[in-house]
Amino acid sequence: MSDFLNAYSIQTWLESCPQGYLENTEYGHAPGVKEPDLVLENPTLRKEAIGVTVQLVVGERCALAASSGLINCAPDYPSKRFLATQTLDEARHVEIFTQRLFDLGVKKDELESVISQHANPNLVKFAEVLLEKVDKGDFLAGVVGQNIVLEGLAFSVFEMMYAGNVELNPKFASTLSGTIADERRHVGFGENRIGSLLLEQPEKKPEIEKMQKEMTYYMLATFADRFRGQARVMEEIRRIVKENALEQKSQVWHGTDLATADAAEMEHVLADTVLKEFKTRLGRIGLEYQTPAQP
Ligand SMILES: [Fe+2]
Ligand SMILES: [Fe+2]
Repeated sequence: MSDFLNAYSIQTWLESCPQGYLENTEYGHAPGVKEPDLVLENPTLRKEAIGVTVQLVVGERCALAASSGLINCAPDYPSKRFLATQTLDEARHVEIFTQRLFDLGVKKDELESVISQHANPNLVKFAEVLLEKVDKGDFLAGVVGQNIVLEGLAFSVFEMMYAGNVELNPKFASTLSGTIADERRHVGFGENRIGSLLLEQPEKKPEIEKMQKEMTYYMLATFADRFRGQARVMEEIRRIVKENALEQKSQVWHGTDLATADAAEMEHVLADTVLKEFKTRLGRIGLEYQTPAQP
């Protein structure tokens, strides 16, 4: 427990996060850095950037509700303190991605309507399955749903988006890199804390596995909407980027070149990477991954 206490203490969080990789940043990036002109000026690119960022805000709002909701049902003080740091991390994620919407030209009084207009209904359902557990005060299910499933998803999506943006949009890429560092800490906590609790309460496993299966279904359905539904827009974006002489350098992520892959290949590499992560992490805490229906 003492390693656990150190790794997830507020002191460690202060040193590594606000006084570490976030030092001298402004909304997660170097002060004064702007979105590329092309993103701000081209209606297709701007609309796509807003659409993607809304999903991030929706996911992070769910993580904020879940991490803060879990504080009061956590069985021990080290977990409560860690979740308090996570709550602040998630609130920051909500803030920086909301700020990106403003940077992309969304007006402050339009924010909620833009979010409800673009939020993917399957992602909203994914969040509801998790928040139902949190509202019931179910700590074990809540931590598995949040720190393994939701954050396993977020971690891979952010990494993939980082790889896709590191050349073309350094502002967004650096916002993502600080978020990835936070998510790495959050998934680590899920694994370390839950394994031992599940050993004490093995009777909880079937219900948690059922939640994982449901959340995984809605996650894959979100990917399907995103990639299958947006294939034409993705091609259009590539064309615009090329036309503006911003030839994207080869950017290989888990064996797939994101600069040339089509929508189906992108969906496949993302789903494959996230599901592999789920299987490994769930296995480490003694749960068996449950395969959902294919959306
Ligand atoms: Fe987050
Ligand atoms: Fe997180």
